[in-house]
Amino acid sequence: MTDEARTLWDAEAEAFDDAADHGLRDPDVYRAWKDLLLPLMNGRGLQVADLGCGTGTLSLLLASEGGHFVRGVDFSSEMIRRAREKADRAIPKPVFVVADAAHPPLPAGSFDVVLSRHVLWAMPDPAAALQKWIELLTATGRLILIEGRWHTGAGLTADECVQLVSDRRNDVQLRMLDDASYWDGPISDERYMIVSRN
Ligand SMILES: C[S@@+](CC[C@H](N)C(=O)[O-])C[C@H]1O[C@@H](n2cnc3c(N)ncnc32)[C@H](O)[C@@H]1O
Repeated sequence: MTDEARTLWDAEAEAFDDAADHGLRDPDVYRAWKDLLLPLMNGRGLQVADLGCGTGTLSLLLASEGGHFVRGVDFSSEMIRRAREKADRAIPKPVFVVADAAHPPLPAGSFDVVLSRHVLWAMPDPAAALQKWIELLTATGRLILIEGRWHTGAGLTADECVQLVSDRRNDVQLRMLDDASYWDGPISDERYMIVSRN
């Protein structure tokens, strides 16, 4: 983690939720993410870690809609400040921590779900970070990664991400998220979700 990276993300925080998939302010986009994520949860009231949670939009969705107990980690204090403001709306209220997601200050072996959207690509050592994230899971815990290789050239390809997960887990399921309903509109780049159940 560098101070420069954190400063850049701090600067993104104010307008972050303006993007359709970030703030989920459009009810149709909200519903698309809800319908994607909730069926992946194995019941209600699970322990969920949202790593690189940003302004906490997905944390709130999972808490409000699924009764999940979410802990969000992000190294940007500006992102976390906004996440905490939004958290007052949710029951159970997610808990947000300012910390490096490469070394999340969370207890190993205690999460039913580790979720991370658009963060693994930004880790200086994605393999090492992913290993730490997997160690947070219980024996039956699920890993949910949402990543992409964007038109800007940033990101991880689906092949790269599948390889990172399959080096560490037996079950690796890839689903392309190419439907416009998840985003600001139609996309031409590679966006996907990986779910690993063991
Ligand atoms: C593209 S945003 C995604 C935010 C959120 N996951 C979402 O989907 O709305 C990437 C987030 O990762 C955070 N981030 C990047 N590197 C990080 C690190 N090393 N530790 C913690 N957070 C990090 C940034 O501050 C930013 O909030």
